Amino acid sequence: MTTSGSDRRWPRVPGIAFGGDYNPEQWPEDIWPEDIALMGEAGVSMVTVGVFSWALLEPAQGNYDFGWLDRVMDLLAAADIGVDLATATASPPPWFSHRYPESLPVTREGHRVWQGGRQAYCPSSTAYRAASTALAGALANRYATHPALAMWHVNNEYGCHTAECFCDVSADAFRRWLRERYGDLDQLNEAWGTAFWSQHYYDWNEVIPPRLTPTWGNPTQNLDWKRFCSDELLACFIAERDVLRAITPDLPITTNFMGAFKPVDYFSWAPHEDIVSDDHYILGADPANHVRLSMSADLMRSVGGGNPWILMEQSTSAVNWQPRNLAKLPGQLKRNSLQHVARGADAVCFFQWRASRAGAEKFHSGMLPHAGTDTRVWREVKALGADLKSLAEVAGSRVESDVAIVWDWSAWWAVELDSHPSIDVRYLELVRATYEAFWHLDVTVDFVRPDADLSAYKVVAIPSLYLVSDSAAANLTRYVEAGGHLVCNFFSGIVDPNDAVRLGGYPGAFRQLLGVRVEEFYPLLEQQTVTLADGGSGRVWTEMLTPVGAQVVTTYVDGPLAGWPAVTRRDVGTGVAHYVTTFLDAPSTQRLLHGICHAAGVATRNHKTESGAPTMNVGSIEAAGVETIRRRGDGASYLFVINHTDREVDVPATGIELLSGAPATDSVHIAAGGVAVVREAAPAVAG
Ligand code: GLA
Repeated sequence: MTTSGSDRRWPRVPGIAFGGDYNPEQWPEDIWPEDIALMGEAGVSMVTVGVFSWALLEPAQGNYDFGWLDRVMDLLAAADIGVDLATATASPPPWFSHRYPESLPVTREGHRVWQGGRQAYCPSSTAYRAASTALAGALANRYATHPALAMWHVNNEYGCHTAECFCDVSADAFRRWLRERYGDLDQLNEAWGTAFWSQHYYDWNEVIPPRLTPTWGNPTQNLDWKRFCSDELLACFIAERDVLRAITPDLPITTNFMGAFKPVDYFSWAPHEDIVSDDHYILGADPANHVRLSMSADLMRSVGGGNPWILMEQSTSAVNWQPRNLAKLPGQLKRNSLQHVARGADAVCFFQWRASRAGAEKFHSGMLPHAGTDTRVWREVKALGADLKSLAEVAGSRVESDVAIVWDWSAWWAVELDSHPSIDVRYLELVRATYEAFWHLDVTVDFVRPDADLSAYKVVAIPSLYLVSDSAAANLTRYVEAGGHLVCNFFSGIVDPNDAVRLGGYPGAFRQLLGVRVEEFYPLLEQQTVTLADGGSGRVWTEMLTPVGAQVVTTYVDGPLAGWPAVTRRDVGTGVAHYVTTFLDAPSTQRLLHGICHAAGVATRNHKTESGAPTMNVGSIEAAGVETIRRRGDGASYLFVINHTDREVDVPATGIELLSGAPATDSVHIAAGGVAVVREAAPAVAG
């Protein structure tokens, strides 16, 4: 982030911003005044305009038609609704791809992808870069001083459909990127391990993207390709951003992220924008989708360094792109929205304002449904607008947490390359299992890069970190030496940043810290489980471990390694490093993390620590689906309680419940599926 704290760049919109994507070009102009009036009724304070308007804004190259947008901007300004103006570059119009057919993306297999959907452009296309920056510049010049303009929304969901392109132009760009990284071919040959399978390069022109090959491609080539693709999309963003910044230096600039999205390294991207914004859609078929929502929100807050962020898109009800698009149940819209606010969002926006009547998304919900205002969705939208108004004072406060989960995009890309010991080691699955255990313990987590400053955290978890640099491994080691509590899962520390194995025994970079030596992996069959001596079970993975200074916490009682250690711990001064050699079942993960939190002085559900009260003291069955999160601002702290269960609960809290305005004395009562936000009487002791 370019700014933080009180000097943070933020749109000139008071309190928690509320609104959504507004696509007036899909409707006759005489509907616009009704839109604006209804936005007023709902309390909308900011809308995103023009995301997919390129074809209408620029009917022919260099010929702009801003007339309709002028009128929309004027109407919004008159209603005091801020505009998050899109640069409209996410979907080049048909004239563009017709004129520049080489700008259409090419798949790994060599197929051209055509226009007719959206995002049909090669990120390295010079024609695309020129046309997109020209349009961004024309918009910025046109609206720089317009009173409605509140911030910039560059492009839309970079990489969502086209994260990579294998055309010749991309190949050139890849070679340029590699020259920058390696300097000369000797370095590249060394890094890519090209002595293997006769892959040595003698000329830069021989180096190509990892196109379709007869068998497994070079892993480091594939890894570098993923790094390059993320960087190449970032270059598209930066090109537009720089144009905007030169014309409107004071306006915040964002592009909307997509949470745990594999192709784009958001930790690397976030420092290049002023505000992190995110699109989050729940998966109807996933019973834990509310936990996933929390995880995504925590990740988005974290990539932005803990600063408030914008929930740029979510749905009011069903989407159109899942196999079965479930409508949200009554109350879910509010719960989902306030979950994001609890985890640091200072804006709640939707895709989209008015549900489309044509196009691929006509069955996607909107704030204003096809059926109009006499609908449950509209009533819930209006109620949410009112709720957000009563939470205005929360804006600017920050989420507190003393537990972190290590997250690294390069490690994700690398661990899921092919030719590995087991295809069942899936990065997100491991992170989610760890996150979910903390969530059930009611522990709020931040996500951190492995080389981040960890001194603020009492517990750090490494669900999976197959690839790690020497300096990051040293950072994690120092964290434990300084008294930190670390828990590390199997298949971590295995390779260096070039995907070359660290020799001398696994887990390579963490062998000394963990006090173990692993000589061989014993992955399990698809449905196979193993039993642990403490009654737990493991799946996916086991490994032949010899303690070298670590104590054995529990062992395998069956499976290929019966009698061998399954979980170990090593005391390092006042710090502790745990190692888990299998994919533990959920109750065992929770038990292990609970013990670690307990030892580290982190409050969990039903567990009081010396430094503070438990997060809840209600029975664990009732509380299992209740989350509490604290945001702290200047002299005030806000306790969010979100009840995902179908039972009412009482949670300890004293202060004013902001949604109702009612005092909370000792406890706050939350209805089934309800939410409470308490401005606490006396700020709770941190930690
Ligand atoms: C994404 C896009 C939107 C819309 C929604 C539908 O988030 O950014 O334009 O397509 O999906 O869910």
